[in-house]
Amino acid sequence: MKKIYMNENFKHFLHGGDYNPDQWQNYPEVLKEDMRLFKLANCNSMSVGIFAWAALEPEEGKYDFTFLDKAMDDIYANGGRVILATPSGARPAWMAQKYPEVLRVDETRHRRWFGGRHNHCFTSPIYREKVAKINGLLAERYKDHPALIAWHVSNEYSGACHCDLCRDAFRGWLKEKYGTLDELNDQWWTPFWSHIYTDWSQIDPTSPMGECTMSGLFVDWRRFITDQTVDFFKNEIAPLRKYTPNIPVTTNLMGFFPGLDYRKFAKELDFVSHDSYPTWRGDESDIRLASDHAARFDLNRSLKHKPFIQMECTPSNVNHHAYNKLKRPGMHMLAAMQLLAHGSDSVLYFQWRKSRGSTEKFHGAVVDHVGHENTRVFRDVSEVGARLKKLDESILGTVTESRVAIVYDWQNRWALEKTEGFQLRDKKYMNTIHDHYFSLWKRGINVEVIGEDDDFSCYDIIIAPMLYVTSAKMIDKLEQYVKNGGTLQCTYMLGMVNENDRCHLGGFPGGKLKDVFGIWNEEIDTLYPGESNKVELDGVTYKAVDYCELIHAQGAEVLATYGEDFYAGMPAITVNNYGKGKAYYTAFRGEDDFNDKFTELLLNECGITSDFDGELPYGMTAHSRTDGENVYVFLQNYSTKPLTTSTKYTWIIADDKKEVSGEITLASYETLILSRKI
Ligand code: GLA
Ligand code: ZN
Repeated sequence: MKKIYMNENFKHFLHGGDYNPDQWQNYPEVLKEDMRLFKLANCNSMSVGIFAWAALEPEEGKYDFTFLDKAMDDIYANGGRVILATPSGARPAWMAQKYPEVLRVDETRHRRWFGGRHNHCFTSPIYREKVAKINGLLAERYKDHPALIAWHVSNEYSGACHCDLCRDAFRGWLKEKYGTLDELNDQWWTPFWSHIYTDWSQIDPTSPMGECTMSGLFVDWRRFITDQTVDFFKNEIAPLRKYTPNIPVTTNLMGFFPGLDYRKFAKELDFVSHDSYPTWRGDESDIRLASDHAARFDLNRSLKHKPFIQMECTPSNVNHHAYNKLKRPGMHMLAAMQLLAHGSDSVLYFQWRKSRGSTEKFHGAVVDHVGHENTRVFRDVSEVGARLKKLDESILGTVTESRVAIVYDWQNRWALEKTEGFQLRDKKYMNTIHDHYFSLWKRGINVEVIGEDDDFSCYDIIIAPMLYVTSAKMIDKLEQYVKNGGTLQCTYMLGMVNENDRCHLGGFPGGKLKDVFGIWNEEIDTLYPGESNKVELDGVTYKAVDYCELIHAQGAEVLATYGEDFYAGMPAITVNNYGKGKAYYTAFRGEDDFNDKFTELLLNECGITSDFDGELPYGMTAHSRTDGENVYVFLQNYSTKPLTTSTKYTWIIADDKKEVSGEITLASYETLILSRKI
């Protein structure tokens, strides 16, 4: 049996969420009621202490763990477990006042005042020392507490600091990377606009006050921010590792968040955890939204190639969207089951109880200000909890197998964001990733979202849209992948620059990629919004929008050509046999109909199908997990209307073990979890 557990000592889907007893210390009746409601809501886990530093250390060096001792004991006494947080996401006022260096300096070099959260310097030795101290005290105090199952380190790390300490650290990081200024000047192409640096101290981070267009500097600054944040994280977890070596450690990530390269983070985590807040509308636009979020979940799973924990989602509305609509009836269960379908072993909420005041008092919660259980949301949550209990034995810890991967790369995103040209404002890298993913999602195909360091040989198909940045390592890996029999699809903008945004010379795509694809890309035409060209494939004409590359086949077979404009007749789609594999190139941006068609072509070629055998009508999807002996298919309907499919197999419904076969109709928002032996 293939099963992987977050914590071997607690083999249950986690259900619960962010719990802030520190805010309710003067309301003992509320704290008591929390425990009654906790059981009633079929919860088993609370994330405690996330922003509680001011309660834990009200004065410098004076600690008060009373509320936390009680919460740990009470939750355990009620059959629950605790994901214990370190409090560094926000700090006490006394600390900011006494040690201003803990506060962040913005890109115009103004130090922030006390307030808000997530606004600390990641380099400050004082902040690092304070964090290590409080984390050590927490770990030492609760190391043997039976409630403790995991560490929730800080909260949604993000942002950057421009203080003297951070700028110095950046310069040190650059020295380490480039060795000499000559090399840095060469990679960043600094003779342009007379930017040659003659001393390391002349280099400052990207800022609107100074240098803000040099893309080599920008991508390095972003890399440095990731490395510095990870370094800060390592300082946070050192005391946790010391006192609680067997308690797994995570921090809550935010999917495709642009600010940090999560692949670097993932190396330091024992398991990945994730927060997300889809803007469900209750109409058919939710179908695409579901796909976009599924891609995020797949990214989380792919970061460590194992199940992850959904650390936060809302049981109802949020407070931070432009319009904070309620989840329509049925959507909560559907969204919860979607998490499981893509590899989450939890449904955890922000938040357990609405706070009485301040910023998030109107953010959805399991328990509302009314204080009792007779609410729609509470009922929805309890229902999810009850269903999770039923699924513990079969589905918890099962893994996802995927023969298809999409390449999503943070450095590629940063370089595309900064580089001037093409569509200046938004080159639509993320949209494009999601467009390709959507075609796979609609067909119920499991997908991994991978980067340069992943093992490419695990996949039969790799789709790498807009892979503009290709390091020498990436070029090599793509080449080896195809040579060894892989099927690769790349698109316009492939292989234009190296990892420092310096163009490859000798024609695009750079280096060996020209041979792998058997093409040369001479020019790229950026179309105005509303304009399009035509590409005909298998007798159907598709629109080419946004980008049309003017490529030459140099060995590749031309599958389709442009129908219009001065480059009519030039190749638009090619395929090249290289080694044992095939390299497909789509030189233009297609719309959904084209992506669907092309994805079908690739899947057919490689004999890849969904684990569910029936036709999937638009809005219905089917993703799967497996324990190596059984496959579990989550058949879901995101449409507001009922949808029907049919199957030739006899399946067992995971919830009640009843059999189902033949025609299957799913009500709007219904999830049927089907299993069969493989
Ligand atoms: C984030 C934070 C939480 C809370 C929620 C609200 O995910 O981590 O503390 O602010 O958003 O949706
Ligand atoms: Zn700083």
